[in-house]
Amino acid sequence: MKEMVLQTRVKVCGYDELTPSDKEVVDAARSATKNSYAVYSQFNVGAAVVLDDGTIICGTNQENAAYPSGLCAERTTIFWANSQYPDKAVKVLAIAARTAQGELNVPIPPCGACRQVILETEKRYNTPIRIILYGTKECYIIEDGIKALLPLSFDAGFLE
Ligand code: THU
Repeated sequence: MKEMVLQTRVKVCGYDELTPSDKEVVDAARSATKNSYAVYSQFNVGAAVVLDDGTIICGTNQENAAYPSGLCAERTTIFWANSQYPDKAVKVLAIAARTAQGELNVPIPPCGACRQVILETEKRYNTPIRIILYGTKECYIIEDGIKALLPLSFDAGFLE
């Protein structure tokens, strides 16, 4: 039997080590957490994307009494960005979260459904998305796009 090894390359750094442009999108995501509607989980997530012309778009998680009707911050942000600017590729995505105790100290990763939407967005614009996960203690940077976080992924290629 053969074995496949699927590797994930993640850069780990402190907020202070981020470039000014990465700090800008991360700060946008951090600030967006304050606009989250997370009345059920109290888990306030903010996301921000940078489009190919430098525009930064923010979004937050939006919860609902019928729980599955809510939406994560990443998908709210990407869908809104793609709705407003369908011709502008998403180049960078930053994610941050806060609870009643304050900002998360560990980097917050996107859920599986959001990873699938990030993949579709990469395919749509034919460009990988740099993903920056913010935590107060450390940040993770995934340079190569969502394939690092979603190996063996399902995409439109299987539908052909
Ligand atoms: N949530 C996000 O917005 N993004 C993630 O990547 C993980 C989870 C939201 C969904 C829900 O509103 C709350 O966090 C708790 O799961």
